Amino acid sequence: MRILLIGPPGAGKGTQAVRLAAHLSIQHISAGDLLREHIDQGSELGRNAHTHMLAGLLVPDEVTIEVIEERLARADTVRGFLLDGFPRNRFQAEALDGILAASESRLDAVLDLEIPEAEVVRRIAGRRLCRQDRRHIFHVEYSPPEVAGRCNLCGGELYQRDDDLEATVRRRLEVYRSETAPVVDHYRAQGLLTTVSAVGRVQEILDRALAAIGRGQDEAPDPPRS
Ligand code: AP5
Repeated sequence: MRILLIGPPGAGKGTQAVRLAAHLSIQHISAGDLLREHIDQGSELGRNAHTHMLAGLLVPDEVTIEVIEERLARADTVRGFLLDGFPRNRFQAEALDGILAASESRLDAVLDLEIPEAEVVRRIAGRRLCRQDRRHIFHVEYSPPEVAGRCNLCGGELYQRDDDLEATVRRRLEVYRSETAPVVDHYRAQGLLTTVSAVGRVQEILDRALAAIGRGQDEAPDPPRS
């Protein structure tokens, strides 16, 4: 399956993407995490991306499109992928249409996580990530680690992202409203879009997302392959 996850900052895209990808046995590709890997490596691309991320702005299209195109070309995406954080504007959406058309593949579904902005600000303010594996996501109130400041899964140190300051989050939300929200219309027009409420417990939202792609508990599993 090839799935896109759209939603404002802090909607829970990363939290759900890890679970959905594991459930569906497909690759989770996070645009933000790919850019943060470049920042960690100290590459020129990473330094350029970091400047925009710290300001709460989108990284230039030519940079993100190149990073995503390279990632989608790897062999591990053959079984499918769950793309989180890309595309974020119409230009990127059209670029992705072109990348998929060139490989004669297509998306199966686009899930739009919907959540009130007040909740997003609370979620981001309390978010803590593991330095050893950014897919290990915690929240000081909603999903606290067993030992303060330490990851339950690997013992790594927990930290707060440098673009999670409140003023930066407000800017990221403005950018989402003006640039990313129109992407929803792009996929609605293609008949691929399902809106999923991102309010509630993590498992409830996962169940809604799985139902939206026909993989809920009541749906029949795929027949065994011969
Ligand atoms: P990116 O890293 O993609 O950040 P984002 O889209 O702003 O989303 P977040 O990672 O902040 O939130 P999330 O929705 O994944 O929520 P999470 O699961 O962590 O992008 C960062 C920057 O990179 C951008 O600003 C931009 O500069 C750049 N960039 C990235 N992609 C780009 C692109 N395509 N083009 C250009 N630039 C790009 O959850 C948040 C918190 O809530 C956690 O603490 C979690 O534990 C908690 N939580 C989750 N679910 C629940 C729940 N159900 N109940 C209670 N708490 C919950």
